Amino acid sequence: MANPTLLILAGDGIGPEVMGQVTRIIDWFGAKRDLAFDVEHDLVGGAAYDKHGTPLHDDTMARALAADAVLLGAVGGPKYDNLDFSVKPERGLLRLRKEMDLFSNLRPAQCFDALADFSSLKKDVVAGLDIMIVRELTSGVYFGEPRGIFEEGNERVGINTQRYTESEIDRVARSAFELARRRGNKVCSMEKANVMESGILWREVVQKVHDEDYPDVELSHMYADNGAMQLVRAPKQFDVIVTDNLFGDILSDCAAMLTGSLGMLPSASLGAPNADGRPKALYEPVHGSAPDIAGQGKANPIACILSFAMALRYSFDQGDEAARLEKAVEQVLADGARTADLMGPEDGTPITTAEMGDAILAALDASL
Ligand code: IPM
Ligand code: MG
Repeated sequence: MANPTLLILAGDGIGPEVMGQVTRIIDWFGAKRDLAFDVEHDLVGGAAYDKHGTPLHDDTMARALAADAVLLGAVGGPKYDNLDFSVKPERGLLRLRKEMDLFSNLRPAQCFDALADFSSLKKDVVAGLDIMIVRELTSGVYFGEPRGIFEEGNERVGINTQRYTESEIDRVARSAFELARRRGNKVCSMEKANVMESGILWREVVQKVHDEDYPDVELSHMYADNGAMQLVRAPKQFDVIVTDNLFGDILSDCAAMLTGSLGMLPSASLGAPNADGRPKALYEPVHGSAPDIAGQGKANPIACILSFAMALRYSFDQGDEAARLEKAVEQVLADGARTADLMGPEDGTPITTAEMGDAILAALDASL
């Protein structure tokens, strides 16, 4: 059988250097676990704009649709701040999400024991934390029409539209319930049904999907502002959180920081399953392109490496190998390996991006 294909879009800023460590990990699985991938590379974001004048070339879009999974680094940087909105680096990422129809964005926030002291919250609030935010990713205010900046009388008005159809809510709710069954069996749905009609519909549809097909899963509803508060007050009350595109964007950054560093958190964006049962999928770290530290070997590659672990689990049905990689990461953290984002100013000298890669590869070797 042909090897599965991976399209790597390293992107901008620290994207290429963290992805450099991921390719070493991919090679390791090919060499040591008989799990070889055919890896291709292409451009996205500012890097694509520099070459093609667009943040995602049509050929790249076609390759992404054809690949078994896409791994993305990060997009954006100050160099592109003044570009027209339509060609900003972020548009490349949003086009991938939309055209691949990746409606379910899984953002786990897990606090590694070795890092519990590093959270801005008290250790007992976050130690052992393991929650999953399921963010709707292809609709809502990110894509709703009408949108734009229009003239109205003698001034301008900026308009975006929050829009959700029943089927859009239905499918992301299902993915949250399915996930919950494989974890703590609890879903909390977040919206603003107190002020938004789209929130009222969201709540209704999530409840209906639950009552009809997932009555065994514990379901609760929360207003998203309260959800933000609860996330920093007592995050361990949650198992799976399902929410819309914009609330999910915000709440997932908040949840991410509970774990001590944005440099730790992976994500998976999944679409409907293909004929072979494999979903369209894109994996990317939750962190951004961090232009301030790009090219200096300071970036933490763990979020990107754990995103590949999610690919092993969700695209390639290799849950055991995903766990092997996750354990290797846990091991190096327990052994004290720290990139700069995981250290205070008085904690000594951090290791480099490549040294973190070395340590994880050594832990993988030791796992055999
Ligand atoms: C994210 C990012 C993106 C978003 C940006 C880069 C467009 O913040 O993935 O959370 O807003 O979705
Ligand atoms: Mg975000």
